[in-house]
Amino acid sequence: MSTKANATGNHAALMDSVYRGQRHFYDLTRKYYLFGRDTLIDGLDARPGMRVLEVACGTGRNLSKIGKKWPVVRLFGLDISEEMLKNARKAVGDGAKLGAGDACSFDSQQMFDEEGFERIVLSYSLSMIPDWETALDHAAAQLAPGGQLHVVDFGDLSGLPGPFERMLHAWLAKFHVRTRSALPSVAQQIADERGLCLTSTRGRFGYFQLHVLKAPTTSA
Ligand SMILES: C[S@@+](CC[C@H](N)C(=O)[O-])C[C@H]1O[C@@H](n2cnc3c(N)ncnc32)[C@H](O)[C@@H]1O
Repeated sequence: MSTKANATGNHAALMDSVYRGQRHFYDLTRKYYLFGRDTLIDGLDARPGMRVLEVACGTGRNLSKIGKKWPVVRLFGLDISEEMLKNARKAVGDGAKLGAGDACSFDSQQMFDEEGFERIVLSYSLSMIPDWETALDHAAAQLAPGGQLHVVDFGDLSGLPGPFERMLHAWLAKFHVRTRSALPSVAQQIADERGLCLTSTRGRFGYFQLHVLKAPTTSA
């Protein structure tokens, strides 16, 4: 097995071990601290027939809400954890095409028989992906002309009182979550390299960060 395939296998096993038990109460608990997800969904502005992909879709909570908020879109989701995909399959049923894959290297043609997506979502996943810069760039590479990549994740938490900020960082680390303070600059770099237009929003207290990368309607 190649080193890359080995790393993917190890990370998949780690995510399965994190979520094997937690997947049963994930949606119930995360609504109290994964803020900004519904703001992202409201801002998708997805039209009927659009292909919407969530990379690292977890339990399928977002896909299910996207389907309700933006009816008649075509939903796709992938995750590295087979454990999380068990929940996602229950949550979306036949309403979405789902597959197991690595955010850094998935092949959308092979997995979904699609070459591009009008909307792509990365929600609280970059903070769990070791090579998150590659995952972000890979998602940007899957945009159809005029498509949009919407990203939400923990911010730098710098507006929180010091002890609370330190406690939160330590608690998140227990779940293999690392806040990505370089996300705004890396998103800007990827936008520049790929000719995308970036809009960024900082949530209250720096708790979350939201980025939208928009592709031009026609390739240059
Ligand atoms: C905190 S959960 C977020 C799930 C969902 N996006 C949400 O907003 O509720 C992080 C998810 O990222 C997935 N994940 C972590 N690393 C991944 C990778 N390299 N490729 C695909 N999925 C990955 C995990 O299995 C988990 O389902």
